[in-house]
Amino acid sequence: MIQTLQVALDERSYPIHIGRGLLQQIELITPHLKQKRAVIVTNTTVAPLYLDQLRSTLESAQISVLPVVIPDGEAYKTWGTLNLIFDALLEARCERSTTLFALGGGVVGDMVGFAAACYQRGMPFIQIPTTLLSQVDSSVGGKTAINHPLGKNMIGAFYQPKLVLADIGTLDTLPDRELKAGLAEVIKYGLIRDLPFFEWLEANMSYLLARDPEALAYAVQRSCANKAEVVAADERETGDRALLNLGHTFGHAIETGLGYGEWLHGEAVAAGTLIAARLSCLLGWLSADDVLRIEKLFVLAGLPVKGPALGAGRYLDLMSHDKKVIDGRLRLVLLTAIGKAVVSDIATADQIGAAIDAGCT
Ligand code: NAD
Ligand code: GLY
Repeated sequence: MIQTLQVALDERSYPIHIGRGLLQQIELITPHLKQKRAVIVTNTTVAPLYLDQLRSTLESAQISVLPVVIPDGEAYKTWGTLNLIFDALLEARCERSTTLFALGGGVVGDMVGFAAACYQRGMPFIQIPTTLLSQVDSSVGGKTAINHPLGKNMIGAFYQPKLVLADIGTLDTLPDRELKAGLAEVIKYGLIRDLPFFEWLEANMSYLLARDPEALAYAVQRSCANKAEVVAADERETGDRALLNLGHTFGHAIETGLGYGEWLHGEAVAAGTLIAARLSCLLGWLSADDVLRIEKLFVLAGLPVKGPALGAGRYLDLMSHDKKVIDGRLRLVLLTAIGKAVVSDIATADQIGAAIDAGCT
């Protein structure tokens, strides 16, 4: 069964299809192509698994396909890799109406989206996310970026895809550690705006870890529904979209501080979310019982609940690059209850430092 959601953004609206075996369903793709020419960008891990499937689906409709295979890993989310994509597009004389396909996880998706935003000032692109994290979060909403040595996702653009095709079947080959990392972003939706979903996750985490197809499809659909609603209301993050960054300011500091790729994005977000929860408690907004309840769910998901001991000063220095900083003041996503989040600059450096110290090993 295919479930379809819509990201409602006027003329930039697009569908998210969720289901098994979608890579073979050409009729879901052809309505979104402007010409019978496609470039599939994927990486060295995903190419042997799914490139041929997608390629033959497209070729079955006489669409010519150029595959571009880039190196795998967060450490390659760079200008250098982006240029490999531009080189391939230019060498093949791709036109502005050629469609770029992002086949892979969030790293491929974010980079391909940025390449699509830049090439000839904008070409269409389609997200085919193959990790849990990219199916529940990064493929939806049009945030595209590469990393800079000084900060994560610092160079990028808002640029929406024409279509998101989340084939749950691709999760069959996903390593356990990556599946768990994706669960961090799933839990996020429960924490910031969907208490019943948080409760469902408490009751169903074991099914998700066992890759029960129905549970996975439900988690992807419910996550995408939450994300689509937030993005439709605030595409460019002038307001509530910032809530989707719960735990990310601390998490990005972990990723940049340790070197990209050392901790997975979802792992860093998990530890970062617990720091944010502890800080919320310190401010008197969240009860100690709720912090324990949140910690229990992350533990159940097999995710880290303590960050690496980089030192509070180093965290604060890395966090000063955060995109939510305004006039030098750090704004953080904090919890006022499970299912309710706010963005606030009320916490002092000492309070943030204390939460970091308590939330690191
Ligand atoms: P990833 O893209 O690095 O993928 C994780 C690993 O799984 C990689 O080694 C990949 O090659 C492999 N893989 C992918 N699909 C597979 C499959 N089906 N079977 C086996 N292996 C597979 O990591 P990710 O967790 O998907 O994404 C993390 C990235 O997403 C980060 O760079 C983060 O900043 C970004 N992100 C972006 C947004 C956004 O809104 N744009 C949101 C959240 C995260
Ligand atoms: N992942 C955060 C956002 O899309 O806004």
